[in-house]
Amino acid sequence: MSETTNKGFTPRIFSGIQPSGGLTLGNYLGALKRFAALQGDQAETIYCIVDLHAITVWQEPAILKARIREAAAAFMASGVDPAQSILFNQSQVSAHAELAWLFNTVARVGWMYRMTQFKDKAGKNSENASLGLLAYPALMAADILAYQATAVPVGEDQKQHLELTRDIAAKFNHDYGVNHFPITEPLIEGVATRVMSLRDGSKKMSKSDPSDASRINLTDDADTIAQKIRKARTDADPLPGSTDGLKDRPEARNLVNIYAALSDQTPDQVLARFEGQGFGAFKPALAEVAVEALSPITKRMSEYMNDPAEIDRILGDGSMRAAAVATPILEQTKDIMGLLRSR
Ligand code: AMP
Ligand code: TRP
Repeated sequence: MSETTNKGFTPRIFSGIQPSGGLTLGNYLGALKRFAALQGDQAETIYCIVDLHAITVWQEPAILKARIREAAAAFMASGVDPAQSILFNQSQVSAHAELAWLFNTVARVGWMYRMTQFKDKAGKNSENASLGLLAYPALMAADILAYQATAVPVGEDQKQHLELTRDIAAKFNHDYGVNHFPITEPLIEGVATRVMSLRDGSKKMSKSDPSDASRINLTDDADTIAQKIRKARTDADPLPGSTDGLKDRPEARNLVNIYAALSDQTPDQVLARFEGQGFGAFKPALAEVAVEALSPITKRMSEYMNDPAEIDRILGDGSMRAAAVATPILEQTKDIMGLLRSR
């Protein structure tokens, strides 16, 4: 159904990452690596550091600014090329916040309370959460639909927010009797759409986990990466010959999936090589693959970070190119809604 609905829309890919902490291996495999791979295909690619999302929970101003630059460095170090893609930070393009307000009038309060990310982040004391944390998915829909994006690559945890984006687009189109917004396709693909914590195979790897040992940061050096993998929680059994044998072994499955994603293989190919071996043999091999894949990224990141003025220039340039796409779409949206525009 969505394919016919999206007829007439320019193929356009949009995605975003919050600069709310150092980026992790989960961000790299679930998002950044795929952002880079999607460039130069059939579609325009627009990638955003979503700083307005980050401030829905408290951010120390000086640290936030450094993290926005660090996120930009991580995008570029992972292969996002600002000449091929538009790379920018959200707060420099006012169309995001404006369209988010318009969507606040389309989305329903009940939709927001159902979001599991809100429940997780607000915790027990949800009355005390910022209003922005509750309204967050309307801003995310605005990010995507300000560009009439047709596809959004994300990790598994963002599926519910993308469904809500589709609901907002559909309700807007229905209420105003137009076909103004596409029904965006989620691109949740590959073996690493949900990289799990190294300490607990039931929790996702996250930049906000209090335990640094639970994640691999894109800024970790080779020794730290090897040490975290060596200490990763596992079980005592040898590796099976196929993924069927990993069903009830979340920690083992996670490490095999990470190996597969980093080396561009399927988990079954990885298991074919390691069948019958224990973690004493597998972990050093995984550490080697991880260091090989990540150390060039870490190195390029620190090179970019040495020139913050150049990062700021790239984000400024990207913001102007982003605004050139988003502003006319925002203006059409206002026209459709009957808001008077006379300048
Ligand atoms: P966030 O860090 O929450 O802004 O997420 C940015 C992007 O990285 C989103 O597309 C997430 O789905 C993805 N992502 C974050 N954590 C993970 C993870 N542990 N595994 C896979 N993808 C992830
Ligand atoms: N909510 C996403 C996350 O926490 C980040 C995000 C904001 C995003 N706006 C987006 C992702 C638009 C994709 C498209 O990871």
